[in-house]
Amino acid sequence: MVLEAIKYSRGKLDILDQLQLPHTEVYNEVKSAQDAWHAIKEMRTRGAPAIAIVAALGLAVELELIAGKNELSSFAEEVEVFTKEKLEYLVTSRPTAVNLADAARKLQKIVQNAAKAEHASGTSVKNAYVEAAEQMLVDDVSDNKAIGENGADWILKNAAGGKDQVSILTHCNTGSLATAGYGTALGVIRSVHARGSLKRAFCSETRPYNQGSRLTAFELVHDKIPATLVTDSMAAALLRLKGPTENIAAIVVGADRVAANGDTANKIGTYSLAILAKHHGVKFLVAAPRTTIDLETKSGADIVIEERAGKEMTMIKGPVFKGASLDLQQIETVSIAANGIDVWNPAFDVTPAELIDGVVTEKGVVEKGSDGVFHFEDIFAASG
Ligand code: MRU
Repeated sequence: MVLEAIKYSRGKLDILDQLQLPHTEVYNEVKSAQDAWHAIKEMRTRGAPAIAIVAALGLAVELELIAGKNELSSFAEEVEVFTKEKLEYLVTSRPTAVNLADAARKLQKIVQNAAKAEHASGTSVKNAYVEAAEQMLVDDVSDNKAIGENGADWILKNAAGGKDQVSILTHCNTGSLATAGYGTALGVIRSVHARGSLKRAFCSETRPYNQGSRLTAFELVHDKIPATLVTDSMAAALLRLKGPTENIAAIVVGADRVAANGDTANKIGTYSLAILAKHHGVKFLVAAPRTTIDLETKSGADIVIEERAGKEMTMIKGPVFKGASLDLQQIETVSIAANGIDVWNPAFDVTPAELIDGVVTEKGVVEKGSDGVFHFEDIFAASG
């Protein structure tokens, strides 16, 4: 069965509650932009592409529900203003991932054009919005499959060292749970696996919020991809191993925002992995759709890094054991740090472009030019 973080049909949106994973699979219904905002803020839905799509579809559902109750204004301009305000509100949910702001800007443009069209009405503007939001869901899956294929080609050509099979390390969550489906970095691993070329995937725990152990590990087990969990602090030791399986050919991560110069904001801990990759001569790839590349942001210094509550580091939540098995009805939160300690909890870090060997997109893998700089213009010039 395919793992689906987002279940959508016109007028109905359900999201897999990622706070309950890996122990319980519960879907929450999202009926409005406000529900979507809370789902994103509270981390019930995660990952840059998934955040953008849940926001876009949350508003689509709200518009459909209003129309279904015959409460949608018949004036195109009123629906345009309503949509604009809701999109501006949705963008305030989390600051670092650019996909949401990018989606909001594109949807706003579509709504503006629809409102200007001849014979425009509230319904025609609503329909233009809903169709565009639905298209984002469809495009994300096909883009991810292309990212997977492009990344697999690149790794097998540039990082396999003549071997038929490779092991790959990844960080945070970038699979079906973080996107509309298939995944970005995990999509690359999936594609390598589908070709019979994956020896083993290694996923890091991803402290402090454990997206690796809770979400990526869940997805790898679910999809029966051979995989091993390591803590973040084991990465250096892992990269040093040159055994038949523990011989990492490449590290592949996702991204929340890639600046115009290639500096990449991603889950905290990504930067450390990039430094380790350089030291050990292991290829380091960022896998992301073009919607994650932000040409307006010149470098990583301009990216706002979200800081989250200290309790995400000092507390841990999960079901307790009853005898030999987990009691899923009894969830406990326990403290794992000294009471009263100050905490710094940036959710993301910025990996400098110089440590990145390639950015894998749906339009191909962008490597640095002979000037040592990433040039993303070509993949934006590409049609589609
Ligand atoms: O804070 P989160 O859980 O939303 O962070 C997720 C990540 O950093 C992902 O690695 C990133 O968004 C890439 S998603 C394909």
